[in-house]
Amino acid sequence: MSLEALLAAVPAGSPEEGLARQVKFERLPRHIAVIMDGNGRWAAQRHLPRVEGHRAGIDSVRDIVESSARVGIPVLTLYAFSVENWKRPITEVSTLMSLLKRYLRLELNTLLRNNIRFKVIGRFEELSPDVQTELKAAEDRTASNSGMQFNIALNYGGRAEIVEAARRMLASGVDPEALDEARFAGFLYTAGQPDPDLLIRTSGEMRVSNFLLWQIAYAEIWVTDTLWPDFRARHLLEAIIDYQKRDRRYGGITQPVVAGR
Ligand code: IPE
Ligand code: IPE
Ligand code: MG
Repeated sequence: MSLEALLAAVPAGSPEEGLARQVKFERLPRHIAVIMDGNGRWAAQRHLPRVEGHRAGIDSVRDIVESSARVGIPVLTLYAFSVENWKRPITEVSTLMSLLKRYLRLELNTLLRNNIRFKVIGRFEELSPDVQTELKAAEDRTASNSGMQFNIALNYGGRAEIVEAARRMLASGVDPEALDEARFAGFLYTAGQPDPDLLIRTSGEMRVSNFLLWQIAYAEIWVTDTLWPDFRARHLLEAIIDYQKRDRRYGGITQPVVAGR
């Protein structure tokens, strides 16, 4: 996309406009992964039940999906539910699942209008049949879209993904001598997608919580104290601008800039 597309969606003179003008569109992250955290604390600050934080977090999801597509991010992955999140009270888990179903039902048209392709990554078969049906419908309806790839990590665990990939790889009868990193990555849920360049975590926690363990090997990490229900396009733009100032060395050294060249 472009600066024009972004400016058309932000109020003139707003902080978002100033930020949009700082983005270098030729150096966008190819994949942004987000650990959406802090919904419970957001609710607690307001003396509300935790589920109200999840409900409010849906507005952030909507804003970040649409803003990422507008900016021109090729792949966005949102961490919605981990394999460890089943430890939470059953009422919280079921509210999260119904919110997800409602989000998909209400947003499907927006995804279609924005040419967004939707995909679930995680242990799909362990989700309840009604949730599976809703997710499958959204995947099928958006399958031929060619714009942003939007992954939702649901019942997702990084280690579980690697074990499953190993199982699939063994079943495929791959020659161990021919196995390399690229070939192994082809058995992950994210096969064919670029690795995240930028990993965002909200609510200030400095951990990766079993998210995309293989794929984030060289991701740039950006942590904000902002809680997920307060996270909006301007925070996303701040993260992208900060990412664009980073010196990514991949184990090498920075080449000095030679004057006059
Ligand atoms: C993130 O918010 C949403 C999910 C993990 C599903 P939390 O529910 O983890 O909120 P905190 O971390 O308790 O504030
Ligand atoms: C990570 O958040 C999982 C999701 C955002 C879905 P958690 O709140 O579950 O992570 P921990 O427990 O603080 O590590
Ligand atoms: Mg949390």
